[in-house]
Amino acid sequence: MKISFISPDIGKGQANAIAALPVFKKAGLKNAAAAYDKISGKQISAAVKAAKFDGSAGKGFSVLGPKGTSTDRLYIAGCGERDKFDAEIFGAKMAKAVLMNNEPTLILHMDGFDCTPVDAARAALGAVLASYRFDNYRTKLAKDKKPTLKAVKVAIENPAKARAAYNNFYGPVGEGTLLARDLVNEPANKLYPKSYAARIKKMEKLGLKIEVLGEKRMTTLGMNALVGVGLGSERESQLVIMKWDGGKKGDKPVCLVGKGVTFDTGGISLKPGNGMWDMKGDMGGSAAVVGAMHAIASRKAKANVIGIVGLVENMPDGKAQNPGDIVTSMSGQTIEVQNTDAEGRLVLCDALFYANKRFKPKAMVNLATLTGAILVSLGHEHAGVFSNSDEIAEQLAKASDNSTEKTWRLPLGDAYDKLLDSPNADMKNIGGRLAGSITAAQFLQRFVGKTPWAHIDIAGTAWKGKSGDVREPSWATGFGARLMNRWVADNHEG
Ligand code: BES
Ligand code: MN
Ligand code: ZN
Repeated sequence: MKISFISPDIGKGQANAIAALPVFKKAGLKNAAAAYDKISGKQISAAVKAAKFDGSAGKGFSVLGPKGTSTDRLYIAGCGERDKFDAEIFGAKMAKAVLMNNEPTLILHMDGFDCTPVDAARAALGAVLASYRFDNYRTKLAKDKKPTLKAVKVAIENPAKARAAYNNFYGPVGEGTLLARDLVNEPANKLYPKSYAARIKKMEKLGLKIEVLGEKRMTTLGMNALVGVGLGSERESQLVIMKWDGGKKGDKPVCLVGKGVTFDTGGISLKPGNGMWDMKGDMGGSAAVVGAMHAIASRKAKANVIGIVGLVENMPDGKAQNPGDIVTSMSGQTIEVQNTDAEGRLVLCDALFYANKRFKPKAMVNLATLTGAILVSLGHEHAGVFSNSDEIAEQLAKASDNSTEKTWRLPLGDAYDKLLDSPNADMKNIGGRLAGSITAAQFLQRFVGKTPWAHIDIAGTAWKGKSGDVREPSWATGFGARLMNRWVADNHEG
């Protein structure tokens, strides 16, 4: 989607465009709507009257070929009370409504009603998020099912300020989220550890330094927990490290770590076949990290940030590990793999330990589609946050409020940690039937030492069958990229 910011030019109007005019509840025709009304010789107020329209949220109508202007159509959008108006949702709803309307251009009129530059930028972001599609593999898509909308222009009194807010923040947020969605939507025959690593490597052009470690190197480093998960796969596991050095030289970085299981069959502890296809999204945590790094690099964030993703495919095979196998992790701690389907924690424990040891970060956050249990607790609405630091937990709660990606903190504690004890090794990789998301988090905590750390379980939010949010039109949501970008921006820059 081509995004631009323009001064309102209601006089001439724009050919091949639809202009969306927000009207607030019982406020009458003001701003751009009033201007169009005047030009068209009261055509709009006549239509308002005929439609018995009072600006209630969710109500609206089109005026085709308004007189006195070359704009194809106006959409008079009821926006409810001014103080409840959300520019991002407005942009999203309008884009969705006109996506296939044979109009290449949508003009969002954010002029005339004390809309801030940030809100104008957020209106554009809403349009970007809502018009996302994953159509790459659809060769037979009917013409009327293909989006026709190509450009969104946001009309505002001070377009330069809004443009700056967009280019410096909200544009990169949109791109990062769309990238994360693309990665999660990709099927596992297209996106597997090596092809995924190659795709990340392309982000070097943004100024990121990128290293890729293969199985040989990881084995030398002692990452037997991570490498063990990929043993049953024909695809070689990869660890990818993305470095963004935008902060002061020598300042400790923050690390973002992601679970990148490109497909999770469960391994020898095989999952039931029904609905297994959605395990192509089991790399959602890594996608959030890659999307966040993309945003951070694109906006040239003044922070030192390291992104690390562990990419593996979990398959059953003669070479796969068996339940009961004992592996020695890079930390030296041994793990009894009682269930090969609890593989995400095995990938993350080595990735987290490596991140901590090599980069000595001031804080670490990992994201993972880690447990089905988090869906039982929080459904598709909130991601679960677990942390050894109240400070980070609070920062994440604020970042969540500021980024619209919802999270909820859950507890950690010694009694839960005990559930991982094993008679055969330092720990087992499952904690039993109860508190499954918490015991998974306890497992990770055993590998982060004293470093302030949080784990975000996004198994319920990385994809949704059907989202109630217009900004989430596809199966994959891209959840986490925006949240992490916001967390870095609010706590680790400048
Ligand atoms: N990738 C799954 C978790 C998952 C489930 C993500 C549903 C998204 C939707 C993870 O690897 C897994 O299989 N976890 C097991 C853990 C269990 C064996 C302790 C689970 O949640 O059942
Ligand atoms: Mn699994
Ligand atoms: Zn998994």
